[in-house]
Amino acid sequence: MSEFSKIILSETEIPRQWYNIMADMPSPPTPALNPQTKKPLVPDDLTPIFPMALIEQEVSTQRWIDIPEPVIDVYRMWRPSPLYRARRLEKALNTPAHIYYKWEGVSSAGSHKPNTAVPQAYYNKQAGIKRLATETGAGQWGTALSSACAFFGLECTVYMVKVSYEQKPYRRSLMQVYGAQVFASPSEHTKAGQAILEKDPNSPGSLGVAISEAVEDAASHPDTNYALGSVLNHVLLHQTVIGLEAKKQMEIAGEYPDVVIGCCGGGSNFGGLAFPFLADKYAGKQLRAIAVEPAACPTLTRGHYAYDYGDTGKLTPIAMMYTLGHSFIPAGIHAGGLRYHGASSLVSRLYHEKMIEAVAYHQNPVFEAALLFARSEAILPAPESAHAIRAAIDEALKAKEEGVERIILFGLSGHGHFDLAAYEAYLSGNLVDIEHPPEAIAEALADLPRI
Ligand SMILES: Cc1ncc(COP(=O)(O)O)c(C=O)c1O
Repeated sequence: MSEFSKIILSETEIPRQWYNIMADMPSPPTPALNPQTKKPLVPDDLTPIFPMALIEQEVSTQRWIDIPEPVIDVYRMWRPSPLYRARRLEKALNTPAHIYYKWEGVSSAGSHKPNTAVPQAYYNKQAGIKRLATETGAGQWGTALSSACAFFGLECTVYMVKVSYEQKPYRRSLMQVYGAQVFASPSEHTKAGQAILEKDPNSPGSLGVAISEAVEDAASHPDTNYALGSVLNHVLLHQTVIGLEAKKQMEIAGEYPDVVIGCCGGGSNFGGLAFPFLADKYAGKQLRAIAVEPAACPTLTRGHYAYDYGDTGKLTPIAMMYTLGHSFIPAGIHAGGLRYHGASSLVSRLYHEKMIEAVAYHQNPVFEAALLFARSEAILPAPESAHAIRAAIDEALKAKEEGVERIILFGLSGHGHFDLAAYEAYLSGNLVDIEHPPEAIAEALADLPRI
């Protein structure tokens, strides 16, 4: 194939099974611990907030897990998502590299998040649950879950990180359109929120705080469960539809990536794209995979590999992960979806074992890359996704310096139509690069649980 722009699969080519990387990892992550007893978690610890089907997926080591037909039925609305060759960006960079991107912004919420919101809503509905409570950073996950709950007739309560609630009022409206009830977090609705507000009435909030609020809400209402938009094994599992489709599409393009790149908050977008390719790496294929994070919240590149809570209020299980400390509150950067103190256990383990790499970027070079991308490829990327664009551009420029035809694949996880205030700040020169003070990280790391 020569001058194609995009590769589109037919609906019959939507994957029928998710890929579970645990089956191929020589040493999968150690089990998570109960936050009270600090003993390895048992399924009963999770039943107050999750349905059994998801608990089983969380601990499964089966390589392939069937996708239920009603989930595929909803996936059909936007899947398979297109794979683009960024020819205009390549030309703008004058690089011999071939740049491909998997475009997840075509979903109902405008990002990869519905890939897991839909199965999570489905399994909860099957289990007889009436309402789901969740957190959201940038609003992408909250939008995805609100829409998925509407498909399956569930109520939805979203605790939205306050800084994003204020930066993105229209994301909030969209969630309300889908029928969700949205609170700015920290809120007065939960004990976890009240405790934070008591210490700092002006707290910008964080994903760690919003998670505590949603978990508390779910655990204290028998008809309500909790849904998490990233981090957990079952979430990353659901997202592998991205990489599975991308592998087929790269095959049609007649190329195989030398490097796979994804932005990384909790790790679900990165894992969803990279894991099916890492299966090949386990089988002996040469491949680099790069997780990209913000310098203001450098979990993999500057965190510790340790047991830590998934939330600020210490309600969630304690998991082995790269962490900046559960009490770390990242600065209010515009990539709200990347403001999380930890990384998923799976991604953390792979990083620890050097199966994957990580880089961190400041906001300004990320937005510079976003603009170049928008002007070449016409798509307005989400600030989170623009981190992957920055890394892809840097890899393409390195390929130019080295004079090699490198094949680069990156995940374009979402659109930035609700992020125009961030673009406006960048265009008017008002975007601040925030290097988090090492003292703040050291202070939060001193707070890690003693295991
Ligand atoms: C567009 C987009 N990309 C990436 C992320 C990061 O999350 P994760 O690391 O789970 O993919 C988010 C989170 O909200 C997002 O909205």
